[in-house]
Amino acid sequence: MSVGLVPTMGALHEGHLSLVRRARAECDRVVVSIFVNPTQFGPTEDYATYPRTLDADLSALEQLGVDAAFSPSAEAMYPPGGITSVHIQGTLGGSLEAVSRPGHLDGVALVVTKLFVAARPDRAYFGAKDAQQCAMVTRLAADLDTGVAVIECPTVRDSDGVALSSRNAYLDAGQRARAGAIPAGLAAAACRFGAGQRAALELLSPVRAALETAGLDIDYVALVEPDGFTDVEIAGPGCKILVAATIGSTRLIDTLRLGVDEAPLVCGAPQQECNGSS
Ligand code: PAJ
Repeated sequence: MSVGLVPTMGALHEGHLSLVRRARAECDRVVVSIFVNPTQFGPTEDYATYPRTLDADLSALEQLGVDAAFSPSAEAMYPPGGITSVHIQGTLGGSLEAVSRPGHLDGVALVVTKLFVAARPDRAYFGAKDAQQCAMVTRLAADLDTGVAVIECPTVRDSDGVALSSRNAYLDAGQRARAGAIPAGLAAAACRFGAGQRAALELLSPVRAALETAGLDIDYVALVEPDGFTDVEIAGPGCKILVAATIGSTRLIDTLRLGVDEAPLVCGAPQQECNGSS
């Protein structure tokens, strides 16, 4: 009897539900956790205001035929006195998100380890959008001999190409329109890669340009190899372009897996570039 686990923080959208559907198709039993994990939020981040929609989440999961939903309290997950941490070393655990959000990846690693112990899954489903999280959990699952197969699932996007995210709810209409610069930039990079471009500078420059033109505050734009997340100068298939940017006070991240993901569906200048020679 195979068990599939889909860890979430709730406020479920089609991105989450795509993971649940995949688990449902591949596993005998499906468990979904809904837990806004305090240890992965920094002191000035949005833990208190993070959207919580438990009733709607539970009915969506029921409709998909999920066997169990696990929604513990913070006190149940973290009884007083816990002093154990889970830390991924090296570039994977120390770069990008780890620099921008100190403690975030350690908080994710701890809660995912605890969820693996609680649910004892055979497979666990994670989204490719949160690329560093997904790679880190894959490594954690192997290094700790959990026996859990971590399945990386494609990013689900809105019709304007913006990756679905619970935090999109924070954006007003104008900000939401500007968020389209993220998939537009990634689409331009995908097109350049498809046309044979392999140089990091050439692949990343249209991403940076799109974000800057839309007035987004760039946290990082990086091209990394997919396992250790070290920077690469020359891209190969499977390398990832990672974006983190802030609009107002909302921080969004996105990822393009070169040679794996379709160019995010957007119209406008980047697509024209794609149809052209570069
Ligand atoms: P959360 O942001 O709720 O995301 C839960 C899972 O859904 C993650 O694996 C994430 O990558 C995936 N996901 C989010 N948006 C997606 C999209 N547009 N398309 C496909 N998958 C998407 O990530 C977390 O929660 C937490 O860090 C967690 C792993 C639950 C640990 O607390």
